[in-house]
Amino acid sequence: MDLASLKGADPVRILFVCLGNICRSPAAEGVLKVIVAERGDSARWHIDSAGTGRWHIGQLPDKRMRIHARRRGIELDHICRQVTVDDFEDFDLIIPMDSDNEQNLRALAPSPEALKKIVPMAKFVDKAMRYDYIPDPYYESAEGFELVLDLLDSGCRNLANML
Ligand code: 4NP
Repeated sequence: MDLASLKGADPVRILFVCLGNICRSPAAEGVLKVIVAERGDSARWHIDSAGTGRWHIGQLPDKRMRIHARRRGIELDHICRQVTVDDFEDFDLIIPMDSDNEQNLRALAPSPEALKKIVPMAKFVDKAMRYDYIPDPYYESAEGFELVLDLLDSGCRNLANML
């Protein structure tokens, strides 16, 4: 995807994707929604998230992620769903959190145009943070969740600035 061609697009449709859709991608959805709301620009942005896995379909985000996000003023109310091939039609950018998510999306993409919509989250994160993926916090402690939120804050701010 040529990000420059999306600048100022109305609407701009963003889908964040991780494995379970209960930690990283719903957090990214919540972080970006707050950033664009702070800018008074919510109407232009359609922001959603999905998982490559199906274990948690129908559930709210992981309670630990909800607590860590809430401390930053971010309420996570997404209901878990699995990514579908239709998402490549319904979204302009599909943003995986790590290389496993990216490979799964690449396998699902129905066309060369769809493949171009996949841009890894780490591409938007400040290089000084020295992460080339968003690490899965599911088996980690509080620091893992805070790290994810720090990386997502950086990436979502840069994404919002670009578009
Ligand atoms: P997420 O984290 O991909 O950031 O939502 C995970 C959540 C659940 C599982 C794995 C990762 N799980 O195996 O159930």
